[in-house]
Parts: sequence; structure tokens; C-alpha cells
Amino acid sequence: EFVLYHDQYVKKQDAVIDMEDRGYNFGDGIYEVVFVYGGKPFAMKEHFERFISSASKLEMQLPFDAARFVELTEGLIQKNDLKDGMVYVQMTRGASPRNHLYERDMKCLVTGFTRHMKPPEDLHKAGIRVYLTDDIRWLRCDIKSLNLLGNTMAKRLAADHNCHEAIQHRDGTVTEGSSSNLFIVKDGILKTHPANNLILNGITRQVIMKIADEQGITVEEAPFTIDELSDAHEVFISSTTMEVTPVIQIAGQLDAHYEIGDVTRTLQNRLKKKIH
Ligand code: PDD
Repeated sequence: EFVLYHDQYVKKQDAVIDMEDRGYNFGDGIYEVVFVYGGKPFAMKEHFERFISSASKLEMQLPFDAARFVELTEGLIQKNDLKDGMVYVQMTRGASPRNHLYERDMKCLVTGFTRHMKPPEDLHKAGIRVYLTDDIRWLRCDIKSLNLLGNTMAKRLAADHNCHEAIQHRDGTVTEGSSSNLFIVKDGILKTHPANNLILNGITRQVIMKIADEQGITVEEAPFTIDELSDAHEVFISSTTMEVTPVIQIAGQLDAHYEIGDVTRTLQNRLKKKIH
């Protein structure tokens, strides 16, 4: 197994990271997760477009253009002979004597690795339990940054209550999962939080909205409340690793049960057709 280190493929133990790398000291960096199906990455271009947008929002200097990122990532997939699994690529602002103040011209460090895994087909079929909790994160959730403490704390809380994912809300407005986006269906209409600073605009989310359009399903990008979540006919989450996963129960600050409905199944199947 090789890892990506700058623009080289090296053994993991040969990739040296400076103790004063800003990614390590401040979480000053960004990342992407791309899924690989039968050796083919899904929506890689879209992932690196978002990566570059995250870099730009943080004034990070890109060592390569999008095409080169794609090329290096595809090379890693090939080198590791990854058939099914995920590839993780991150970029930190690099190393300098610890100081909150960042310089804009720092040499960023790119690293990446692959992991064999299969999509969770059992969960796709049966659905999951989720845990509703406060969204305690910062106000730039549109950036796919390495700062994930709000997310990881929410995920731990959910797992401690036998739930697979945490669903977060800000003062009663439902935002997204700890590592996924959230959709509800009411009277056949699909609803999800608008892509603003309060959520990560998921690549899977965007593909789902396109599929919904093709299927003649009305999509509303609008904030919705916990009451609307409670009244929904169908609920599902979406992400690169979870695809479309139905929600069958919500615990925590809400106690609700849902059937897995036609809209969810249609979107789930259409997405699978697109990726395989
Ligand atoms: N997480 N929202 C958050 C907070 C996320 O971390 C993710 C993805 C998503 C879904 O985005 P996409 O459809 O582009 O995967 C939404 C990845 C999978 C992770 O951190 O592992």
C-alpha cells in the first residue's frame, strides 16, 4: 500500500509530517473523500472542484491544478490496485513555527491514502436510526475543513445512543448530519437545507437533486424545522460513503419513526445505476 505525499507515491512510514504542520497544530487544512467502484472513482472532478473552492476560501495556495489532483489520485488508486473503497486526499497549509497568524504564501502539503471497503448495502436496505442534537459547529460549514470536532462529538453522541448518524439543528432549523446531508419527503416533495454557510454542499446531495429533477420529483432547497422533520413521510441521509441511506427512526431531541418510501427507493436505485 502506497500513500500520496506531495506528488510522490511512498510507503506510509516514509511520509514524514512536521510536528509544526499547521494541519496538526490548528486543523488548518482541507480534505475530500471519493468513493471507488470497480476501480472507477465516482464524481472525482466534482470533488476536486469543491476541494479547490475550499482552498480558495481559506486563501491556501494550490501546488497543482484540478487536473493534476485528479491524475495523482487516479495514480494512487492504480498503484494500490483499489477496486472498491475510498480514497482520502487532504491538504494542509504546511509547516512553520507555531503562530495563529498564517502567511498566504505557504507551501501546502498534500497527502492521501486509499482504503478497501464496500458500500453498506445492509444499511441501504434496512435503513438507520439517527440522533437529533444541537449543531454546535462553526459558521463556515461550507468549507470541507479538517476541523471536525463538532462533527466528531455529534457522531460519538449518536453512537452512544445506538444511532448510526447524528442529525444536527440550529435553533430548530435542521441543517445536516455529522458526515452527511439530510433530505425529507412530504407529499412527494423533496426538501433539503439550502447550500449556504451552514452545511457542506455534498456532491451526493447535488447528484440526488439532479436525479430528482430527471424523475420529475419536485425539489425544494429550503430550511425546515424539527416539526417538519417530525411530520415528514420519508427521511434519508446522503454522502459519498453512505450513498442514499433511509432513516427509519430518530432519537434524541425527537422521537419519530418512518417507513422507507418510494421517493427514497427511487433516488437510491437511480444513484446506484449512476455509480456502478
Ligand atoms: N463526509 N456534510 C458533511 C458534514 C460531511 O462531512 C459530508 C461528507 C457530507 C456529504 O458530502 P458528500 O456527498 O460530498 O460526501 C455532508 C465525508 C464522506 C467524510 O467526512 O468522510
